[in-house]
Amino acid sequence: MSRELVFLKMAVLRLLKEHRPGYVSGEELCKGLEVTRTAVWKHIQSLRGDGYDIEARPRAGYLLVGIPDRLYPEEIQDGLTTKFIGRQVFYNNSLASTNDLAKELASRETQISDGTIVVAEEQTGGRGRLGREWFSPKYRAICFSLILYPPVSPSEVSRVTMVTAVALAAAIRNETGVPVGIKWPNDLLVGGKKLCGILTELGAEIDKVNYLVVGAGVNVNQGPGDFPEEVRDIATSLKIETGVTVNRVKLLQAMLAEFERWYRVWLEHGFAEVLTKWREMSVSLHCPVCIHAIDKSWNGWAEDVDEDGALMIRLPDGELQRVVAGDVSLRV
Ligand code: BTN
Repeated sequence: MSRELVFLKMAVLRLLKEHRPGYVSGEELCKGLEVTRTAVWKHIQSLRGDGYDIEARPRAGYLLVGIPDRLYPEEIQDGLTTKFIGRQVFYNNSLASTNDLAKELASRETQISDGTIVVAEEQTGGRGRLGREWFSPKYRAICFSLILYPPVSPSEVSRVTMVTAVALAAAIRNETGVPVGIKWPNDLLVGGKKLCGILTELGAEIDKVNYLVVGAGVNVNQGPGDFPEEVRDIATSLKIETGVTVNRVKLLQAMLAEFERWYRVWLEHGFAEVLTKWREMSVSLHCPVCIHAIDKSWNGWAEDVDEDGALMIRLPDGELQRVVAGDVSLRV
């Protein structure tokens, strides 16, 4: 579809939304958009094909009855309160990994704008931390990647993951009331089960970040049967926790708004406020933990997290161990 046709189709949608819960006459659509009745009809059919429920009544016109549960760019933009995060959206019905496409876009010669988001209704090769797979079934989860150009050095990159964890946890708490907490390094958990994972990747030179891609997968409307057997006991979704289907567009808008807020707090006022919030939301501090790093494991007491996101654990012999990468299991 040409840019002009897409523009007209979106204009039809906008008028339908403006007149809700009333009808908009065919004549008004034709006049407003300076197109023929046949063209209006084609756009209505195309919107129906996208899942919009539109009633057509002789002499009354068209009524938008229902909006589909899809992460369409026009739905994300409708009501988005951010200045730059999510202002440009790359939407895909199915994609191997939103992080992969975001990295490809970010490394193109003509730069993609700061805060661009890549979303997919389904990932067929979703990636997690430490080379793991990330499973996201169609229309149930929110999978997105943000392209960012923060003026920071590669050593500060872990902070953006912490910013993301704080922002997403805050948005989820506000929108759904689910008491989500952060488990080091940056998993979001509810009742010990994983609700959301974050994967940050970067394009960089030794001392300069060219771009950052922050990918997040949130389990939203999955039922227990939607998770693969191997993670069924350790993963959860907002629907499982609340018993209700969550509006994915609204939640994504809230996450983008919170992200922009915390990202700006970091860049404009420094990292201290983010770190304080991260500590406050943590469920893996001030408790006994087992850390599994690549080649080693430790049992100890999780004492704190530092400005670079490293976990400080007090070992049984009293020594303080700094851990930069790995997984935590909480010991009870
Ligand atoms: C983890 O907890 O291991 C991180 C999971 C990150 C998953 C997200 S989903 C969107 C983005 N695209 C990917 O391939 N991975 C991230």
